[in-house]
Amino acid sequence: MRRSVLMAIITASSVLGVVICLILLTSSSTVQAAGDVDAGKAVYAKKCKTCHGASGEGNAAIAKSLQVTLKHLASKEVQQKKDDDLKKEINEGTGKMKPVKDLSPADAANLLAYIRTLKEK
Ligand code: HEC
Repeated sequence: MRRSVLMAIITASSVLGVVICLILLTSSSTVQAAGDVDAGKAVYAKKCKTCHGASGEGNAAIAKSLQVTLKHLASKEVQQKKDDDLKKEINEGTGKMKPVKDLSPADAANLLAYIRTLKEK
């Protein structure tokens, strides 16, 4: 009798463990859907780095030739912009920045996620 109670407890707790794992797995994949930082970093290196520099600091030569001040992407001015506004700039360009070709909506979301990580540094 006692043994079966024990077995029931063990079974119940392992079922609970599986359920918790599933919840953790699904919640981490929702975070990814909002923008994958590593994927964003890869796209950034390919399509943005030449003008914006390795960590968003801006390429001085490009700024000079376009006669603009390239703001650091980690700066407060850039980081305080809303997600939607940044995404619009990434997709459509802004001022002297022409729209970047061949960016998928996923690329834009991933780039945004990556740009947000520049903030802390
Ligand atoms: C050909 C050079 C060039 C490329 C490539 C480029 N940008 Fe830009 N970007 C600029 C310039 C120049 C500005 C400033 C525009 C202005 O102020 O007139 C700018 C501005 C921005 C801004 C707004 C920052 C601010 O001043 O508030 C964001 C965000 C941005 N770029 C993101 C990106 C991302 C992400 C990519 C890659 C997908 C990218 N840019 C590719 C030249 C470039």
